[in-house]
Order: sequence, then C-alpha cells, then structure tokens
Amino acid sequence: MSDPMDEATQKVKADFDRIALLSSESSHNDYYLNYLLRQLPHACADALEIGCGTGDFSRLLARRAKRVLALDFSPNMIQLARRRASDYPNIEFQCADATLWDFPVESFDCVASVATLHHLEMKGMLSKMSRALRQGGTLLVLDLFENEGAVDALTSLVAMPVSLSLRLLQTGRLLPPRAVREAWDEHGRTDSYLTLSQVRNICEELLPGAKVRKHLLWRYSIVWKKV
Ligand SMILES: C[S@@+](CC[C@H](N)C(=O)[O-])C[C@H]1O[C@@H](n2cnc3c(N)ncnc32)[C@H](O)[C@@H]1O
Repeated sequence: MSDPMDEATQKVKADFDRIALLSSESSHNDYYLNYLLRQLPHACADALEIGCGTGDFSRLLARRAKRVLALDFSPNMIQLARRRASDYPNIEFQCADATLWDFPVESFDCVASVATLHHLEMKGMLSKMSRALRQGGTLLVLDLFENEGAVDALTSLVAMPVSLSLRLLQTGRLLPPRAVREAWDEHGRTDSYLTLSQVRNICEELLPGAKVRKHLLWRYSIVWKKV
C-alpha cells in the first residue's frame, strides 16, 4: 500500500507543475520581497532558497549575493525559473525535494523560503534551514497563516478590497484568468496553514530572538539572525 504522505506530496508537486504552465502574473508575495531583502546581511556570499517556484525571489537575491542555490521539486517551475534567469549566471537551480535534500551545514549567509513552508513539516525544515546558516547569517521566511480570533478576521476583511485593488491596478482585472483560478482552487483543497501563535511558538523554541511579523495580505514573515 502506498504511503499517504507520498500521495500528498505527489499532489502538491502535480499542482505546481500545472500552476507553472499557467504562471504569468505576480502574486501577493511580491509586495513583501523588498522587506525580506532589506534584512539580508551586508556581506552575502551564498544564499539558498527553498521552494523557489519560477525564481522571482532567487533573481532578487542574486543581485545581492555572489551565489544563489535555489531548489524546487516541480520540474515545470524549475524549467521556467531557469528560462527567466538566463541573465543570472550566479543562480543554480536544482530540481529537488527539500524534505530529502541533504542540507550542508553552516554553508550559507542567507537561507530563505517564500510561500513554501506550509507544504513542509515546519519544525524539521526550520531546523535544517537554521543549521545550514553560517554564523551572522539570516533566515528569511514569508508564508501564509490561518486566521485565529477576531483581530485576524478583521485584518482579513480589510485585506480583501486592498487585494482586489492591487490586482486591478497591476493587471486591469479583479480576478486572475479562469484557468489560473481553477488550478489554485484545486491546490487550495489540500492546502493548510499554521496560525500565527503556532508559528510564534515554533520560533520561540527553535529560533530564539526571531522577529515574526504579521503582514496585511494574509502573510507573515520570520527574520532570524544566527549569532
Ligand atoms: C506557492 S509556491 C511559491 C513559489 C515561490 N517561492 C514564489 O513565491 O513564487 C510553493 C513552491 O514550493 C514548491 N515546493 C513545495 N513542496 C516542496 C518540496 N518538498 N521541495 C521543494 N519544493 C517544494 C512548489 O513546487 C512551489 O513551487
């Protein structure tokens, strides 16, 4: 009998292979990438990105770091990322499952992940990511969270018109094209997120002193300096 975890992982991979073929628009993650970049250490030789997708953040990292290694387990995402980064010889894209990848110890000045950790076992992945950092290096995470309580519900209400207006300004449409919506809806059926308190508890345990920030468009960030 097949392992249900394997099936779940296969589904995520298939979802992103499908999404990659439709990918054209920017996402709400993009509004927070500059905030992440501002947290980078001054001297950043080596950066690692987990779950790079089409490589939007990898390319931004590559302007600040000497070398960027970017992983994703969707072959279609990696193919697109390579194509879009043809002007960035300092990025190496690898098609690899982050859960099986052998993280080198103390080898990077920045280890980052955008909108990917909710697909992985958070504690285990954060431990691997923090071990891969050199002393003085920075861990950067942007991800989505599950609302809990009235304040989150209210923030979500405020976020809705902001999100629609931003999309309208950027694309001239209130909603993404139908095929894109359908692919994300299918993916959303099995997607789940941690609440901010769960994220904060994990950070307290694993990343002492980490800065966990809630952002308007259903996202949070973690910034942690390894001392
Ligand atoms: C929501 S997308 C975010 C992509 C990109 N970081 C961005 O912000 O546009 C999540 C990405 O994580 C990748 N991913 C999910 N689980 C993974 C795993 N176990 N190993 C490597 N990549 C994974 C998916 O293929 C997908 O490209």
